[in-house]
Amino acid sequence: MTVDRRQFLTGVTALAVSPIIAGATSAPMTLEAKQGHIKLIPEEFGDYPQTNVWGFDGGVPGPLIRARQGDVIERKLINHLPQDTSVHWHGLRVPNAMDGVPGMTQDAVPTGGEFLYKLPLQDAGTYWYHSHNQSTEQVARGLYGVLVVDEETPPDVDHDIIVVLDDWRLSQEAQVTEDFGAMHDWTHAGRMGNFVHAHLTPQLVSVQTSQRLRLRFVNVATDRVMAVSLSGVQGKLVARDGMPLEQPEDFSVLTFGPAERADVIVDVTAEQGDTVQLAIHERDTDYLLQELKVGGRHSSGPRGAIPPLPDNPLSRLTDLTNARTVPLKMEGGAMGGLRQGRYKGRQLSTQELVDEGQIWTFNGEAGLPEAPLLTASRGEIIRIPIQNDTVFPHAMHLHGTHFQEVLPDGRFGPLKDTILVNPRESREIAFIADNPGDWLLHCHMLSHQAAGMKTWLRVS
Ligand code: C2O
Ligand code: CU
Repeated sequence: MTVDRRQFLTGVTALAVSPIIAGATSAPMTLEAKQGHIKLIPEEFGDYPQTNVWGFDGGVPGPLIRARQGDVIERKLINHLPQDTSVHWHGLRVPNAMDGVPGMTQDAVPTGGEFLYKLPLQDAGTYWYHSHNQSTEQVARGLYGVLVVDEETPPDVDHDIIVVLDDWRLSQEAQVTEDFGAMHDWTHAGRMGNFVHAHLTPQLVSVQTSQRLRLRFVNVATDRVMAVSLSGVQGKLVARDGMPLEQPEDFSVLTFGPAERADVIVDVTAEQGDTVQLAIHERDTDYLLQELKVGGRHSSGPRGAIPPLPDNPLSRLTDLTNARTVPLKMEGGAMGGLRQGRYKGRQLSTQELVDEGQIWTFNGEAGLPEAPLLTASRGEIIRIPIQNDTVFPHAMHLHGTHFQEVLPDGRFGPLKDTILVNPRESREIAFIADNPGDWLLHCHMLSHQAAGMKTWLRVS
């Protein structure tokens, strides 16, 4: 099935009644966390049964939430699962009470319970939502979906395609294996799956030469870093983690730590009878994830340069003169990284930490510390040099606002909400602390987060 731009825009117009009136008179839309089953493994791999999942509205990915920049949307989470849950709106600048972090911004929603999320959509872009409770298990079972905030004037493309990159650990019967807290995973690179998959929305099967495509990549894997490439197209990287780049950039391989996103706009260069291919690069081999047939030539012909996306109302850094620096050092994990550390206010030996399932530390402390890493006053500029003193990569995610990398030459990188810090590497992030509240800063390799890699900061 293909949905073209025109149909999509008609749909948006039809829904664009005043959100204030709509909110006042109608019940909020629901988002039900519940069990379901999906056909995950394609027929060509053999005759596999459906996979049992936990999904929003029972599907994986959950329903695509799509609205226009400036709208305020509501979703009432209803929990039908046998565990508590919550929803975090990854990358959205939301009021703190809507951030979905149990024990910090709300109580976890128990079985049968509800929670109303009210989300002002300040910035256009590609975001996602996922469970933030027992997330190593709940995200692995499928509790995530994509949230797209459309620009007031979206760029002119023929297809706007969401590409969800996921990584499943499946049994021979195509069921999610229930070894969620496996210590060997937690001490190493995390819970790696055995079935990497790219889910497209809409589920397009063919394109035409010279068509312009916008592809929105989202890595929802709990732990896997994905390096993907496209062939049969030519274009530019236009946004990262939802935020427009000031200037579109060339790209060849796109690397995504868990939770990272990118938008590209590309023109199909492959000719009729050929294909557009999406591949993932793993250990010197490329594996095909998706293939689109090229059926004919688009009538309008080539369209010229790819313009930058309209910018979002979020200030970028200009200088760091009055910035405060608070370093963060990561230690732990297997292969010599594991040391002693504090946990719940006590100094523990290496073995005692392992017994607690805590094998990673930030500044010598495992798990969520009682005191924040820092307290910023509103508007203050904070720099956090992050030193990875382990032999594993970590995808560091800050809630509540985007940050920029401070590059070695003093310039600033693009706005991001997650940054992949490679083994033994140091990277520095900086941001304007202008969203009040308590915000997590954690590794988005969810196994590492569960095993210690989390802290928080307060903006007052
Ligand atoms: Cu996408 Cu704290 O998470
Ligand atoms: Cu990590």
